[in-house]
Amino acid sequence: MINNFQNWIADQIKGIKSKNQHRILTQIDSGMGPEIIIDGKKFIQFASNNYLGLTMNKKVINSSKKILERYGTGTGGSRLVTGTSNLHYELEKIIADFKNTESSLVFSSGYLANIGTISAIMGSKDIIFSDELNHASLIDGARISKAQIVIYKHCDMKDLEKKLKLVSRKNIRKMILTDSVFSMDGDIAPLDEIVFLSAKYDCITMIDEAHATGVLGKKGSGASEMFGVEKKIDICMGTLSKAVGSVGGYIAGSKKLIDFLKNKARTFIFDTSLPAPALKASMDAIDIIQNSDGPRKNLQKNILNLTEFLVKEKFNFYKNDTPIIPIIFGSELKTLKFSKMIKESGIYIPAVRPPSVPIGLSRIRITLMANHSQKHMEKLKRVLKKIKKFN
Ligand SMILES: Cc1ncc(COP(=O)(O)O)c(C=O)c1O
Repeated sequence: MINNFQNWIADQIKGIKSKNQHRILTQIDSGMGPEIIIDGKKFIQFASNNYLGLTMNKKVINSSKKILERYGTGTGGSRLVTGTSNLHYELEKIIADFKNTESSLVFSSGYLANIGTISAIMGSKDIIFSDELNHASLIDGARISKAQIVIYKHCDMKDLEKKLKLVSRKNIRKMILTDSVFSMDGDIAPLDEIVFLSAKYDCITMIDEAHATGVLGKKGSGASEMFGVEKKIDICMGTLSKAVGSVGGYIAGSKKLIDFLKNKARTFIFDTSLPAPALKASMDAIDIIQNSDGPRKNLQKNILNLTEFLVKEKFNFYKNDTPIIPIIFGSELKTLKFSKMIKESGIYIPAVRPPSVPIGLSRIRITLMANHSQKHMEKLKRVLKKIKKFN
């Protein structure tokens, strides 16, 4: 039996390798700044979601250290038992103010926030309309809920409306589910049109602001702020693990929604809560995000700088107003080769391949940070130009 199992695994791995889709972990022996250490060598990285560089912010680190000494390393329980401290409540209040909602709820990760929330709210008699490029956590949440899933073409509002119209039964509950910034393509969902359709067809609107939090909007609270639709979104999810630079996920919405999730979201109920230093790091980071737009302006400057270069050099890339800029190669092998050549030049940008992206759309996904310096940006452009002929 054991041998059969081991043989099965070996066959599976062989299959993955034959498609050039085998993945290995890269060990990073430093903090996640613009420069990192791999195998004792320094690299400039354009691969993390630490868009504002807050994971290494001195003020955040120092106040988390103090909290670590006072509260220790863990909470010893789930939120409903010993896992709710004053810091959990304080952070939830800060997030609700930041997101302009009545209330919020912190989960251990964004992934858990999505699957727990969708599956608590939707059931087998309901329908979820889901963008075809939604993040895996939204897809998994929809699947766990057992609702019927209707996939609409990426950001295509005509297709979404066509599909909404087909549901004639009045008493059926419907949800429109979308990333606000798409994790692999980096583009922004048309939230103004989505909330319009949602109201017209009586849907629940849930958005995932994982990559928009800290990046979009005047005070950096996300795409819902940028579009001015915060009050029209029923369920606004985000993470504390990307621009916020810590760890955790949240749902922002009405008091009733949060009360319901405390009682029904299984990934909230049956999961040990986040430790105090992580909560304090998120609190301080959100404070920085709201009260200083300098890092966001730097980030925008870097986005513009790289975009202009890629247009001028005629790269096959997705032009976005976000820090996620993918250069498309198509085949897995070509992407792997390009990523390897970049690494040999001292820059770290891993290849992104199926199943993270559709087959035939393998890419290197460049992500920019506010604290990538002029020197970092120039080096990236030099290296990309040198190896352009392989694109
Ligand atoms: C769009 C999106 N939603 C949710 C998540 C999950 O968030 P977390 O990493 O906090 O679990 C991610 C992270 O990769 C993401 O890109």
